[in-house]
Amino acid sequence: MGIKTTITIDLNRKIGNINPNIYGHFAEHLGRLVYDGIWVGSDSKISNIDGIRKDIIEALKELKPPVIRWPGGCFADDYHWRDGIGPIQDRPKRVNIHWNSVETNEFGTHEFLRFCELLGAEPYICSNVGSSTPKEMRDWLEYLNYNGNSTLSQLRGENGHPEPYNIHYWGIGNENWGCGGNMSGKYYAFLYKRFASFAHSFNDQDLYKVACGPPEYHYPWTRSFFKNLCENKYIGCPFRLPLVNAFALHHYVLTETYATEFNEVDWYNTLLKTRKMETYIKWHKRIMNFYDRKKTVDLIVDEWGAWHKPEPDTEPKWLYQQNTIRDALVAAMTLDIFNKHADKVAMANIAQTVNVLQAMILTKGEKMILTPTYHVFKIYNSHREGTSLNLKIKTKNRRKVPIISGSCSVKDKTLTLSLINCHVSEPVKININIKKIKNYYEKSWILINSEDIHDHNTFDTPDKVVPKKEDFSLEQLEIPPASVNVLKINIK
Ligand code: AHR
Repeated sequence: MGIKTTITIDLNRKIGNINPNIYGHFAEHLGRLVYDGIWVGSDSKISNIDGIRKDIIEALKELKPPVIRWPGGCFADDYHWRDGIGPIQDRPKRVNIHWNSVETNEFGTHEFLRFCELLGAEPYICSNVGSSTPKEMRDWLEYLNYNGNSTLSQLRGENGHPEPYNIHYWGIGNENWGCGGNMSGKYYAFLYKRFASFAHSFNDQDLYKVACGPPEYHYPWTRSFFKNLCENKYIGCPFRLPLVNAFALHHYVLTETYATEFNEVDWYNTLLKTRKMETYIKWHKRIMNFYDRKKTVDLIVDEWGAWHKPEPDTEPKWLYQQNTIRDALVAAMTLDIFNKHADKVAMANIAQTVNVLQAMILTKGEKMILTPTYHVFKIYNSHREGTSLNLKIKTKNRRKVPIISGSCSVKDKTLTLSLINCHVSEPVKININIKKIKNYYEKSWILINSEDIHDHNTFDTPDKVVPKKEDFSLEQLEIPPASVNVLKINIK
């Protein structure tokens, strides 16, 4: 008989516009991400533009990265921006206390912003709250954004960039409940208000200020933050847009297995943990809407992804891991959840871009490979800027994981329907019902799958897992086991 699933798409039930920033990235000074992964220096034998790897630029450009978060992560709350400006040879070397390395500061503000410029991505800078002062933070903003004649804007000019950078996205601390200072929600709320009051844009635009959120399900931390931010409880909460624009949640799928060594039970457990993202988003929506009645504050997820055991023979603190079909499903399922909550989730940043955790790209010397996660980001790009639509999926569960999940969006008379088959070994017949639409035709089907769920790309076999194009008919659609699928359907 085989497994069957029915999908109903309702064009009249629009959720919201999908913010392209949901497809954002995160680059921390951690392991071999910045040094090796992005930065090799202009004297390197590896082909580079102003010290930045050319192959990485070319590969990432294909993804059209909308936004990149930097310099951390935990590193952000131990980072002092003045260490990373001026002549490279004069910059101090500091111990990276979180990630077991010495930070040379060769890659600082200007280098990061050049990286963003080469990619056409918006920078999202996370400033130091845990071990810094409002003064250090406001000075960095003046250095970055001030267009007039001040000592700091002149210094920026002397360092090669007279034009202001006009930074818009500004994080105020990272995981301040943990590595960013072990603070309670209440304490952070007070500190946040103090820092946010001095987070001046130094130009005519508002700065988009991001407050750090809790670890996953620690809802009391969230409540305490908002309660104390408002102070007058929820009545007459004095949210003024300049104070807080977004609240940032983190969720990692911790697997306790190596990326490439897992069994069927691990596979389903990983997907079950991935689905938790939806619960966290729903709860945060509720709590935030309670305190923020006018819904002025966005929810963002500025760290997410699979966190496996670091590869053997690598420095464990450098968080280097391989990336299989399992990771492709984690990425696709999470992006679908963000699409489905387009009315609240305004940005997300997968952790992390190169050589760390669920990376897009892995490097070894001058070689690089694209991971299955990279390919998911590429094929999901057609959702960007579409309008997210309500999708009903009637499917079975396997070990508590719905076998089929997905999301749907519409843009310029084209429906993009992404579907994941979570079943490890069974294909699934899909019956699609598009309400109130008689005339439509199949445009394209791109899928990512492989014979074995452990398949991944290596430096010797870089194209083991790559997207494939297939013809399809809506009447007879069957999607293979353990696959990520993006279907495009034209409607009239
Ligand atoms: O992404 C690695 C680390 O995970 C980040 O530095 C921190 O914010 C989180 O705990």
